[in-house]
This record gives sequence, structure tokens and C-alpha cells, in this order.
Amino acid sequence: MLMYSERMKTTSPHVKLDRIALLYAMKAEGTPLAERLGLDAETELHRGLPARVRQGRVGRTEVFLVFNGCDPVHDVDRIGLEHAAVTTWVLAEALKPQIIVNAGTCGGFQARGGAIGTTYLAGGDYLIHDHRIPLPGFDALGISRLPATRFRAVEARLNLPIGPVSSGSSLDATEAERSFFEKEGVVAKDMEAAAIARVAADLHIPLMTMKAVTDLVDHPEPAEDAFLRNLQSTTMKLTDHMEQLVRWIGEGVTEADLKN
Ligand code: ADE
Repeated sequence: MLMYSERMKTTSPHVKLDRIALLYAMKAEGTPLAERLGLDAETELHRGLPARVRQGRVGRTEVFLVFNGCDPVHDVDRIGLEHAAVTTWVLAEALKPQIIVNAGTCGGFQARGGAIGTTYLAGGDYLIHDHRIPLPGFDALGISRLPATRFRAVEARLNLPIGPVSSGSSLDATEAERSFFEKEGVVAKDMEAAAIARVAADLHIPLMTMKAVTDLVDHPEPAEDAFLRNLQSTTMKLTDHMEQLVRWIGEGVTEADLKN
């Protein structure tokens, strides 16, 4: 296990990024990037867990592309906050990345300029919208507000908009959740980012989050219909941006370079 001082050294913002982890919930979201980067076939991340990792070198950087994996009982990807939190902890311990990039799809908002395929970087707070605990102090624990790190150089280079990302356990949204999104100016509704952000913050690992819109929360069409129709085309847009990011990192940049 790395001592605290060693951990801090590996995550220094001025050290070139030679180990990065890319975390996706769904295989369909991450496989196109793994193929484009020529990563190895998947292997087990940790004994007993369905999480899988594909590894390879891009320029001077070792890239680990991680999936939560396929649930052995339900035979679908393990999407959701609890699986994201477990995978984040395991990948942090096993792979010791200098930065984690959480990439995937999300619900977007026409009211804030979102459209199918719009790709965001987290830039406001990470939030949880369906974790209601009306007890003093625990209410704030439930919302889990955590400021997202800004990567301004990435925003500029990839020309991506930013905003708050709110995570929850459901694909659809209740009226109360819709009011919450309006109040907070949420641009991306997903099912993982806030959980990953909390674990990454606890472990002092920098986190960047990139989410591309498959469906519009403030549109009458059911989220599942739009999601299934747009998953592939939106994933291609996400993959273009992620490839640009990873190849840039592979040229030999530091975390500080990504921010300034
Ligand atoms: N991922 C893609 N669309 C989503 C939505 N509407 N809610 C949560 N996660 C999503």
C-alpha cells in the first residue's frame, strides 16, 4: 500500500500524467474508445467483482479503461451509484491512477441549451438529487454537494460547455427532482458521477467528468425511448472528445496543464 506521502507525490499536479483511469458504467459507452486506442482485451479488476479493465499505452501514458461490469444475476451493466463507488475504490487501490476521468451518457436540459449529443464537463457542483434524508445535517449528506474541479484548458481545447452534474438511482425524474434541477441549474443528470466524486475526493485523486446527452429531461418523450435511440450516436460524440483528451494526455501533460 502506498504511504500517504507517496500517494501525494503520485498525484502532484506538476508530474506528467503517466497513469490514468477512465471509468465508464456501460460497456457500450466505453468500448468504442477502447477499440480506437487499441487497448488490450478486458481482464478482471478485482477477484469476485464483475468490474473489468482494458489497458494499453497511448503515447507516454498507461491508460486503464474500467467498466463496472455485467451483473451476474441480471445480465446487464451495473449502472448506478453504489456500483460506481465500489469500482472507484477498487480501481484506485489496484491501479493507482494519477487522475480518474468518469465518462458516459446523461440526461440533458433544453432549458440550459442541451441537445442530443451535447457533451459536458462537470464544472459546478456534483449533487445527488434523490437521496432525501430530512434530519439535521443528514439532509446535506444526502445531497452530497461537492465542487467539481475545473479543467479550463480541457474546456477550451475541446470547446466543451460545463455545469453542475446531478446523480441519482433512476433514469426517469420526479416533479421534486425536476424542481431541484432547475434550482441548481443542473446540465447533466446521470447515475454515477457524484458517487465517484466523493470516493475520489476522499482518496485525494483528481477527477474529471465528461457526460454526453442521450435524452432530454425537460422533454415529454420518456427518457428510456430517447436513451435507446440515441445511445450509439451520442457515444460516438463522447468517444471523439475522449479520444482527443487521452491522446493529448499521452503527449505528456501534467494535471496543472489540463487546468490552465
Ligand atoms: N444516462 C443517460 N440518460 C440518463 C438519464 N436521463 N438519467 C440518468 N442517467 C442517464
